[in-house]
Amino acid sequence: MTWTAVAIVLAGGTLLVVALWYLLIKTEGVYLGRRTVVWLYDLYAGRYDRIKQYDPLIETVYLAQPILQRLPTRAPLVLDVATGTGRLPLALLEQPSFQGRVVALDLSRRMLTQAAHKLAPFGERVYLLHHPAEALPFPDATFDLVTCLEALEFMMDARAVLRELVRVARPGGLLVLTNRQGLDARLMPGHTFSHQDFIRLLQDELGLCDVELLPWQLDYGIVYARKPGQSAPIGARSLGEVWRCARCGAVDWVPVRGGWRCLGCEAFAPRGADGVIERVRER
Ligand SMILES: C[S@@+](CC[C@H](N)C(=O)[O-])C[C@H]1O[C@@H](n2cnc3c(N)ncnc32)[C@H](O)[C@@H]1O
Repeated sequence: MTWTAVAIVLAGGTLLVVALWYLLIKTEGVYLGRRTVVWLYDLYAGRYDRIKQYDPLIETVYLAQPILQRLPTRAPLVLDVATGTGRLPLALLEQPSFQGRVVALDLSRRMLTQAAHKLAPFGERVYLLHHPAEALPFPDATFDLVTCLEALEFMMDARAVLRELVRVARPGGLLVLTNRQGLDARLMPGHTFSHQDFIRLLQDELGLCDVELLPWQLDYGIVYARKPGQSAPIGARSLGEVWRCARCGAVDWVPVRGGWRCLGCEAFAPRGADGVIERVRER
């Protein structure tokens, strides 16, 4: 092999390594599609909490308490979209003043298994649903609080997901979101927003009010916003009262042995040994 050939092979190899690092590590598969994103989260699920090292005190002071201060009820019904290993449900459920329930969904089955282990002590106060964020299986105006933390930038269409989050919040309900910032945000063009553009999107396109974007973590700002209008708090309902069946559209489920049964069409949604509930697909 000539020196030129060696140089070409080395340059090609370096380029390939950099491309793989960018596509799989730095941008977590987002330019390769939803399947790749979820596959990578499945792969890292066991290590996710060790990498993140969330501190319970910091989670209380900078996540749970600011949210609870903005809620009019101690017993809200909460939806956490892309819950991962259950960070948000855990932060809320550990607060003695929180008397609500949380429906937490994610598309990575293994992230949900991690969440299930941590959230087991809270029993039926938290439901873990294996489901995509893009089409939420709930009627309009179902939740007092809707959250989506550190995840919008990994969605194929963040605007569509945001529309869903707003749809399922009740009028007057609270939304808590994060917006990626810093160098990492600039390395994900098409998947991140400047803070200014994000606020404009929430206010002008999605019609939210009381939008506040505050400093939060190194890589993220946190956003509190309200859905306009007023309605009575939904309260800590059971999953069976808010989950819309993908087959018949009924919102009427009962827990049965090994899963949940739709009373509208008898569809069965299995519940894994870890407690994670699988979705029912449309026929
Ligand atoms: C960085 S983690 C954030 C997890 C959690 N919210 C937190 O703050 O620790 C991003 C999560 O988004 C989930 N995710 C990505 N795309 C999704 C989609 N289309 N539907 C549901 N979950 C998705 C991933 O599986 C992963 O658990």
